[in-house]
Formats: sequence, structure tokens, C-alpha cells
Amino acid sequence: MKKITIAIDGFSSCGKSTMAKDLAREIGYIYIDSGAMYRAVTLYCLQNGLFLADGNVDLEALKQHMPKIRISFCLNETSGRPDTYLNGENVEQQIRTMEVSGKVSLIAAVGFVREALVRMQQELGKDKGIVMDGRDIGTTVFPDAELKIYVTASAEIRAQRRYDELKAKGEAVDFNEILFNVQERDRIDMTRAVSPLRKAADAIELDNSHMTIEEQKAWLKEQYLQAASK
Ligand code: DC
Repeated sequence: MKKITIAIDGFSSCGKSTMAKDLAREIGYIYIDSGAMYRAVTLYCLQNGLFLADGNVDLEALKQHMPKIRISFCLNETSGRPDTYLNGENVEQQIRTMEVSGKVSLIAAVGFVREALVRMQQELGKDKGIVMDGRDIGTTVFPDAELKIYVTASAEIRAQRRYDELKAKGEAVDFNEILFNVQERDRIDMTRAVSPLRKAADAIELDNSHMTIEEQKAWLKEQYLQAASK
């Protein structure tokens, strides 16, 4: 079977990371969560006071700081999944908080941040054998990927999934706040000037609103087998 590039794009909290990670582990591919990279830059901005009093990011300061931001991934032996590191520190938990989720779309809309992260993502995938998920993987990062998937689900279903996930981690959460956050991120992700979220012309669409994780996994594995044996 030939080694391919698998690009999985879609809305926030639509379950694409879970299916992407599981497929990568099963077929021995590298898995990269590109959203984690935008989240890590956001965390860096929060930790270094780069957000202004009006809530926007200080673009000049961030541009100066960009060369100092190093993001890497390292396999967590316990979970069997890669953890995200920011300048050598494991930030996997810190990048998933509501504080980071509330700010990350602003950072993801900054052109020079996207350029830097896209370059890193292309470097990580240069040898193929990679599953990467995000918003612009099939359109901008790997336009020649052999398999492109575009995942959708209703905002309410995605908010419910996120609510259940945060609650299970013991975070105090409010469903309406999460729904608002999901809808707001959809709006910003789809309307931003640079690399807005959109389906690549050659992507296969999957609406998983009413699918179980097991059903999604089986569906994705089938798509992979077909694409890799072409
Ligand atoms: O998938 P996620 O929710 O962790 O993504 C976090 C944010 O980063 C989200 O607002 C969209 C943005 N993002 C992006 O613009 N491009 C990507 N390739 C991945 C994520």
C-alpha cells in the first residue's frame, strides 16, 4: 500500500481529531492536530501579555515574538497520542481551556501567524504518511493530498459534545456559553480573509451528526484503504 497524505478539515468540535488520531495510530501514520498549533500561539500570547485591553492582539509585538515560539509534538505513552509542547513545555491541557478557545480564532485570522504555521505543517508532512486535521489542510497546506475529508455536524450537536468533554474533565461549564463559542468560531473561521474554512473541490464530505465514533472510524478506514490502493 502506498504512503499517502490525509487531510481532514471541518468545523470546531465535530469529532475530526478523534477519528484522525485513531486512524493514524491504526495505520502507523504521524498525526498532527494543526488547531493545537494555533492554540499554542494563543496560549503564548496570553502568557506574555500580548492581548490588548480591548481584547485584540498586539500585532506588532506578536510579530516580534513569532521567531521565539517553538511548537512540537511528542507521543504520550499513556494516551498513545501526541501531546503539544510550547517552547519545551507540555501544554496539552492548557491549550484546551475555554480561555484559549475564546481567543484562538483571533490568532488564527492573523496572516503572518498562518504563514509561519503552514510552513511548519508542510515540513512535518513532507515525507507523507501523515494525517493532519484543521480548517485549511486540504485547501492550503496539502492541496495535493491523496485523501481529503470535510467533516460537518450541527452547531448544537458539536456544542453538546464539547460540553460533555469539558464536564468529564471537571470544568465548570455552561451549555449556552459553549454553543455561543462554537457558533462564533464557525463565523470567524468561515469569514476570515486568509484561508477561510471551506471544502476543497475534491474533498469527500462527511456529516457525522448522527454517527457513532465507531461508525465514523470504520467509514474513514474504508476511505483510506480506497485512496491508498489507487
Ligand atoms: O480545531 P480547533 O478547535 O482546536 O482549532 C482551534 C482554532 O484554530 C479554530 O478557531 C480554527 C483555527 N484553525 C485554523 O484556522 N486552521 C487550522 N488548520 C486549524 C485550526
